[in-house]
Amino acid sequence: MYLLELKGSNHALAVAEADAVGELVDEGRGYALVREPDVTRRLAGSHRVSRFLGESGAGVGGSGEGAVGESAGGSVEETIGAAVEAARGLGVSFDGSFAVRARVHGDGPSSAELERRVGGVFAERARVDLDSPDDVVRVVVSEGRVLLGLEVCETEGFEGRAPTEKPFFKPGSMSPALARALSNIAGGYDGATLLDPMCGTGGVLVESALVGGRAVGGDASREMVEGARVNLREFCDGVGELFVGDGRSLPLDDSSVDCAVTDLPYGRASHVEGGSAESVARGVLGELCRVVRDSGRVVAVSDGWLDETARSVGFEVVDRFEDRVHRSLTRRIVVLSVRDA
Ligand SMILES: C[S@@+](CC[C@H](N)C(=O)[O-])C[C@H]1O[C@@H](n2cnc3c(N)ncnc32)[C@H](O)[C@@H]1O
Repeated sequence: MYLLELKGSNHALAVAEADAVGELVDEGRGYALVREPDVTRRLAGSHRVSRFLGESGAGVGGSGEGAVGESAGGSVEETIGAAVEAARGLGVSFDGSFAVRARVHGDGPSSAELERRVGGVFAERARVDLDSPDDVVRVVVSEGRVLLGLEVCETEGFEGRAPTEKPFFKPGSMSPALARALSNIAGGYDGATLLDPMCGTGGVLVESALVGGRAVGGDASREMVEGARVNLREFCDGVGELFVGDGRSLPLDDSSVDCAVTDLPYGRASHVEGGSAESVARGVLGELCRVVRDSGRVVAVSDGWLDETARSVGFEVVDRFEDRVHRSLTRRIVVLSVRDA
C-alpha cells in the first residue's frame, strides 16, 4: 500500500486521480492510501509517494476542537506519543542513513518536534543525515491520524509547461496539472489511446503523451491543430496523431480509442463551431460514446454540468468535480463511462 501526500489545490480531484491509478483504500485531508498505483512519479495531484509503513492507533488528538495548546501535555503531546509508539512498532530497515520529515495538516505539534522525536526512535538503528539521507521516513498528521511511510519519490512537476511558456499559446488553455490529472483519471497512460476531440493548444495530449499515452487529437480550427502539433513537437518529440475536424463527426471507428478527455468551448474567448454550445456538447459526447471502447472512461469539462446531456447519449456519470478558475468561471468536470446496453 502507498501513502500519497496530496496537493491542497483540489482535494476531490487529487483523490479521484489516486483512485483512478490504483485502488483507493482511505483518504483524508492531505493524504490518500492507495493499493498498487500504476503511476507514481507522474501524478498531478500528489506531492510525493511513500510506501505505507503503518499508523498510530485511532483517537490521538491534534485536530479536535480547542484541544491543541490547552496544555503542554494535552493532545499535542498525545499526537507525538502516538507517532513515537507507531514508529517503535515498525520493522523498517534502512539502506544507510535516514531522515524523518513530517507534515501536519491543521492543528497539532510542530513538524520539527515530530521529526526530532520520531527520528530518535530510528536513530537507535541507523545514522541520521538531514542533508542527504539514503531513506526518508514521512510522518503525516491529519484529522487525528498519524501515518508513516518510507518515501519512494517526489512527483515530477510541470516546469516549463505552463500554457504561456509553450511555443503555441491561446487564452483559455488548461494548466498542465489539470490536464495531467484528467488524463490520468481517464486512463491515458502506458500505451492507452487517449482522444481529445477539441484539443485546442494540445495541453491534454502533451500530458498524456508524456506518461506513455498514445495521443489522438482533433479540433475544428486548423490554427489550433497546427499549434497543438508545434507543442507536441516541443515536449513529446511530435508523438501524437492530429486531425482538423468537427468533434460531432469524428474520423474514427467505433470503439477504437481507450479513453477521452474533452474540454468543451466555454467563456467568451472560446469559439464554438457548428451551433450552440449545448448542441455541440451533445454531438461531441454522442461521438465519444461511439468511439471509446466499452468501459473506457471519458472526462468532459465545461462551465456547466453535462450530466444530463451525457446520460441522454448513453453514458453513466461516475464522478463529478468543480475546479474554480476565477470569480466568474468554475469548470465543471464529469467522469463518464459507456452505459451497458
Ligand atoms: C476550451 S477550448 C480547448 C482548450 C484546450 N483544452 C487547451 O488547453 O488549449 C475548446 C476548443 O474546441 C474547439 N471547437 C469548437 N467547436 C468545435 C467543434 N464543433 N468540433 C471540434 N472542435 C471545436 C475550439 O476551436 C477550441 O480549440
